[in-house]
Amino acid sequence: MNRIPQHVAVIMDGNGRWAKEKGQERLFGHAMGVESVREALTAASEIKVKYLTLYAFSTENWNRPKEEVDGLMDLLVQTISNEIESLNKNEVRLMSIGDANALPDRCRAELKSAIEKTKENKGTTLILALNYSSKSEIKTAIKQIAQRYKDGEISLDEITDDLVSSHLYTAGIPDPELMIRTSGEIRISNFLLWQLAYSELHFTTKFWPDFKKEDFYQAIYEYQHRERRFGKVSEQLQS
Ligand code: FPP
Repeated sequence: MNRIPQHVAVIMDGNGRWAKEKGQERLFGHAMGVESVREALTAASEIKVKYLTLYAFSTENWNRPKEEVDGLMDLLVQTISNEIESLNKNEVRLMSIGDANALPDRCRAELKSAIEKTKENKGTTLILALNYSSKSEIKTAIKQIAQRYKDGEISLDEITDDLVSSHLYTAGIPDPELMIRTSGEIRISNFLLWQLAYSELHFTTKFWPDFKKEDFYQAIYEYQHRERRFGKVSEQLQS
């Protein structure tokens, strides 16, 4: 318990394949994935992980068939609305990262209302990455910083790691120490590229709907047994 990561990020992958294996529609897989969201959030809250970021919808996901995109948006609205009471009961604060402006009105409204209603909660912060692209996030930060330099507000020397971080959606939030991806895919897929620079990566072949509390704890346990060297050698860390 004295080495719990402050921030865990998750790429929830494999809902479609899970459903296909069962002869079901892809949307059924997403609906069952909501149960795993609950499991991961409960596990994170129990061991006091401060931030849990879930990759729920990437900017690339708009390219999926319209029926699936609409279904995912409906699921999101429904889930947020159903869960708000439980979030408050469990002191969970909701946040989002990504370009929320491009989300359908009903989705944006529900999200905004839930963020407002949970903003005073002091437990785990659940961060939903929605219409999120890490490259866009970094590009926007570069443009803002370039503008501030051009306006004479900052010098080149003032462009530090911290300054860049402060221009990202995740400003003020510590970088994830651990990133989990389900479904056997071993890539980052445009997710938190800056923030994951020193994160430990945990890949599991389980599809997201099969990912339960024990799997979350397993990932934390493995993380706790890794040696994080940050470019140093092992002996330096021992001393
Ligand atoms: C990836 O599986 C999953 C998604 C793109 C959506 C994740 C959404 C949920 C779990 C439900 C709603 C979430 C919240 C936070 C309420 P995939 O479709 O890429 O699966 P595949 O790779 O097998 O096709």
